[in-house]
Amino acid sequence: MYYDTHAHLNADNYQGNLQKIINEARDHKVKYLNVVGFNPKTNRLANQIALNNANIYATCGLHPSEVQNFTNKDLADLESYLKQDITVAVGECGLDYHWHKETKMIQFEFFEKQIKLAKKYQKPLIIHVRDAINDSYEILKETSSDGLLKGVMHCFSGSKEMAVKFLDLGLYLSLGGPVTFKNAIVPKEVAKIVPLDKLIIETDCPYLAPHPYRGKENKPSYLPIIATEIAKIKGISVEEVAYYTTENGKKLFKIL
Ligand code: NI
Repeated sequence: MYYDTHAHLNADNYQGNLQKIINEARDHKVKYLNVVGFNPKTNRLANQIALNNANIYATCGLHPSEVQNFTNKDLADLESYLKQDITVAVGECGLDYHWHKETKMIQFEFFEKQIKLAKKYQKPLIIHVRDAINDSYEILKETSSDGLLKGVMHCFSGSKEMAVKFLDLGLYLSLGGPVTFKNAIVPKEVAKIVPLDKLIIETDCPYLAPHPYRGKENKPSYLPIIATEIAKIKGISVEEVAYYTTENGKKLFKIL
């Protein structure tokens, strides 16, 4: 069985056919799933979907690419979600300079506030980083010094050298569709070196569909394709990848 630790079943794409997508995931042995929120609307939907479906959990966060729209009320609402057991992580949150470098200072503020909430409620962070790996590392390094920081670098796209640095902070690494892309040298190098007890996997659907569906709408039932590629790279069986990544996910997100 598998754990898709990062799926946006709260995206508009699935609102007409959610049950079909979930059933398809089950048919492909994806037993556990996190519905990842990124703004007030998707946080609310993540909770709803999780409450209505067994083995599906919510995560709630305020995404760096939308910080210009967020208010203190949104932070307060986020905190109220974190008080509920069905919400298993804070995120996605982090830094993203790809589209909005000009909001850098507000991004820092929201990232740090969410790190504090994660520690307060003892829930792991789901960390999004795009074109901001050094600043993200500095913030995480500083905030991890008390030993309370837990979390995962979602769809990790950095080098293997950076991977080692984040692993040294005690963070997990999550790999998704890009590891299957033909020209993806760097994610394949990372897949090779990440220890089996620190690896989790995700689809990040509807984005980043694995090969041969690259560019199409992604869905959780494609997760075994990603596991198969990682198994090939690591020279182990797909069952081992499924076993370790599921156990790691259950441990990180405290799923009993
Ligand atoms: Ni995502």
